[in-house]
Amino acid sequence: MADSPAHAVNAKLEINGTSVSYPIMKGSTGPDVVDIRKLFADTGAFTYDPGYKSTASCESALTYIDGDEGILLHRGYPIGQLAEHSSFMEVCYLLLNGELPKQAELEEFSYTISRHTMLHEQLATFYRGFRRDAHPMAIMCGVVGALSAFYHDSTDISDPEHRKISSHRLIAKMPTIAAMAYKYSVGQPFLYPKNDLSYTANFMRMTFGVPAEDYEVHPAVEKAMDRIFILHADHEQNASTSTVRLAGSSGANPFACIAAGIACLWGPAHGGANEAALNMLHEIGTPDRIKHYIERAKDKNDPFRLMGFGHRVYKNYDPRATVMQKTVREVFDALQVKDPVFETALQLEEIALSDDYFREKKLFPNVDFYSGIILSAIGFPTTMFTALFALARTVGWVAQWNEMISDPAQVIGRPRQLYTGPTERDYVPVEER
Ligand code: CMC
Repeated sequence: MADSPAHAVNAKLEINGTSVSYPIMKGSTGPDVVDIRKLFADTGAFTYDPGYKSTASCESALTYIDGDEGILLHRGYPIGQLAEHSSFMEVCYLLLNGELPKQAELEEFSYTISRHTMLHEQLATFYRGFRRDAHPMAIMCGVVGALSAFYHDSTDISDPEHRKISSHRLIAKMPTIAAMAYKYSVGQPFLYPKNDLSYTANFMRMTFGVPAEDYEVHPAVEKAMDRIFILHADHEQNASTSTVRLAGSSGANPFACIAAGIACLWGPAHGGANEAALNMLHEIGTPDRIKHYIERAKDKNDPFRLMGFGHRVYKNYDPRATVMQKTVREVFDALQVKDPVFETALQLEEIALSDDYFREKKLFPNVDFYSGIILSAIGFPTTMFTALFALARTVGWVAQWNEMISDPAQVIGRPRQLYTGPTERDYVPVEER
């Protein structure tokens, strides 16, 4: 890490009759952080913070979120500006290298990524081991983990060149892996990548093209897809990113770490929410049924939640949802489609945002609320939604993993616990129990 954060005044704590004080670390912006690393050695006590609601697990210079203001910055650049003016390749470069690329740097980076898009031919046989109705995320977990078995020449994590190549490979191969998962589910032949296409156009062709015909992606759809990738590229220390960091903290290879991140992303409270949100909107069906579902979401005895609503960090509108909503209209206009589910979503948002329950708890639409409507209009089945999230988030995972490995403060992640089980007791032979 470049510069260590400034240490300001100390935080004081009295525990079991002992007074201790710990440095308060200041970042470039955002909340202060109390450095409690010596707490256990000094006092014999741990902190208790399930869900890490008050815990900074690492130092990072990648992404900043101000949840109260609805701000998301990558390397300082607001997500709205990146979504409007940048490209996914440029954002990948930015996240990995810290600065926006010059033209020649962008061209070189895009060229390098395009030269890693093919998969080892034997990996195709892995797909054939899956059922045709396997969820694409199940396939992604398996195939990405299996990359470790094929690319030994880039798994020495102490070698920066290995780390760079494995990062490029993961970013480049993820579209091929995701497209093949789709092709397998619909029984169509796999398509090899075509490297004269852009990252996003290449993915669209591998997904929706067939060998029998030429395929050209609609420019507006390519732009929308590229923007969706930008919106998902990184998001600070979320559950899947923290999973990647924790897996990587033991020295595991990057392919195994990213497979762990994919597994975590799959859950409906995280990346699986885009699939769940569209399924929910279909279940609601027509606007007249919205009130019933709002009541269910508010009922403590009903496990139902409004999917695509609420966020651990955002207590304001998720800035990614704003761009997503705009993109729905652009895609609908370009493809000349209309989907009544969008009207249901807009009305659901309006009703929820004027309801005291959602206002008091500061529950707003998140990135997953509108993304499914766009992806569905483009032609993706709901089961592919989270796979697309994984594809785009790979750069964030890889950038965070690289940052962790280069951080001198990095040690194996090993949380402690508040033990509430039985204290020591003697074993009782089975005949005496
Ligand atoms: N519908 C109804 N009530 C909700 C919702 C919701 N979507 N989200 C939170 N609440 C309530 C929750 O019941 C709790 O109420 P109370 O204080 O009375 O117990 C309060 O709001 C705070 O919720 P929480 O579960 O303690 O908050 P959290 O920070 O642990 O969870 C969350 C955040 C995203 C898991 C949650 O809001 C949720 O389950 N949302 C639906 C799933 C979703 O859309 N996930 C995508 C998140 S964004 C993309 C990503 O991370 O991949």
